[in-house]
Amino acid sequence: ILTCVINNFFFFLSSVYLVKIDVILPCSSKKKDNLTHEVFDWKKNYDKEVFLYVKGKHYNNGKTGQDEDFKNRVDFFEDQLQFGNASIRIKKTKLTDSGIYSCRLFPNLDQEQTRITVNVHIY
Ligand SMILES: *[C@@H]1O[C@H](CO)[C@@H](O)[C@H](O)[C@H]1NC(C)=O
Ligand SMILES: *[C@@H]1O[C@H](CO)[C@@H](O)[C@H](O)[C@H]1NC(C)=O
Repeated sequence: ILTCVINNFFFFLSSVYLVKIDVILPCSSKKKDNLTHEVFDWKKNYDKEVFLYVKGKHYNNGKTGQDEDFKNRVDFFEDQLQFGNASIRIKKTKLTDSGIYSCRLFPNLDQEQTRITVNVHIY
């Protein structure tokens, strides 16, 4: 895993994962703002909806709009939200999960906006 700090708001992380394992994609608020009543959005390749959390409502409790590819395969860490942690876990990764993942926190909290390139390989 290669981490590179570009500036205060971005960091890039390039990772190689094996198929069928779970991966955690990191994203967090620098000031550890309580995100319980905030919004965070994860996208793949800038347009596919991976995971959206809006003040307690999200794709795993009835919110619609998630890309079919990610149905039932993504969760977040509810107990970590209050510490500014909006990381997600993608379960059972497959080759087609390779791509660029980005996380945004709203409102624009002093966040570490993340852009992560995930490469899934079979060995
Ligand atoms: C975060 O906000 C929730 C909901 O208002 C509250 O229950 C929780 O105690 C807060 N946590 C912290 C660490 O402030
Ligand atoms: C966020 O939570 C995940 C899952 O518990 C953990 O792996 C990760 O280290 C946490 N990130 C931070 C910045 O605390």
